Amino acid sequence: SIAYLNGEYLPLEEARISPLDRGFLFGDGIYEVIPYYNGKSVGLVPHIERMIDGLASVEIKCKKSADEWKVLLDDLIARNEGATNNLGVYVHVSRGTDVKRFHAYPENVEPTIFCFTFAIKDPEPVDREKVHAYTVTTSEDLRWKRCHIKSTALLGNVMHFQQGHASGNSECLLYNANNELTEGSSVNAYIVKDGVVITPIQDNQILPGITRRIIIDSLVADGSIKVEERNVTMDEVYSADEVWISSSSKEIAPITQIDGKPVGNGKVGPVWEAAFRIYTDAKF
Ligand code: PDD
Repeated sequence: SIAYLNGEYLPLEEARISPLDRGFLFGDGIYEVIPYYNGKSVGLVPHIERMIDGLASVEIKCKKSADEWKVLLDDLIARNEGATNNLGVYVHVSRGTDVKRFHAYPENVEPTIFCFTFAIKDPEPVDREKVHAYTVTTSEDLRWKRCHIKSTALLGNVMHFQQGHASGNSECLLYNANNELTEGSSVNAYIVKDGVVITPIQDNQILPGITRRIIIDSLVADGSIKVEERNVTMDEVYSADEVWISSSSKEIAPITQIDGKPVGNGKVGPVWEAAFRIYTDAKF
């Protein structure tokens, strides 16, 4: 595939960065993953805005405007035959390459900008008998206290994801010291109880997911399913009728097992199907 690196387009396998890049040495960068289905993006503007906010919050001085980002990403998708494929675009802005390894932010360093595309799966069928359901484990959330920043320093997330993966599950749901759900290692999380969708509030313990925003906004606009943003205890998670996760690559995905125990009746639930239909109609 064709990648973008610091103003140039080149085959991905030819892209090279310095080992002194702070993204490599410190995980000192901000990233995004944006889905495009047959050339149509989902949440492009909020993804770009979240990245610009994240860069500002860690003082990475990237001069690209939201409009310039949009042109760059749409162009990269077009160069990778995005019109007839489902592609994710990965966008990575590191603080740049210094002349030495020194923790303080360097002066006069240009950020490194790297983007590439990768194939993503077709959207799931809006059918609870046919959709792929996921199973998850759980763990205390041992990441940092700035989970709202989409940092490229993902070792905490990677370690939690591996906990789920190593035991044959596809995610790990995380809870804080108060036994409240935060999110998954690479996804936001939701429960459904008595027809109400409940998801943890957007604070420093979770990533402000773009898919989460589209889900909440589309359900509120539709009006047929009630949504609450509030703290969710793990007892509520274990006794929920349905549990879902969401991300740019998974859209809304149902969870049918937590730590080997069934969620609700162990089948994908009707609220998932109704919500996924509403989301699917609203996402572009
Ligand atoms: N993951 N929470 C975490 C910790 C995430 O890493 C992600 C995204 C989300 C969902 O956010 P969004 O709906 O904006 O994709 C929540 C991306 C896809 C990744 O790291 O690959």
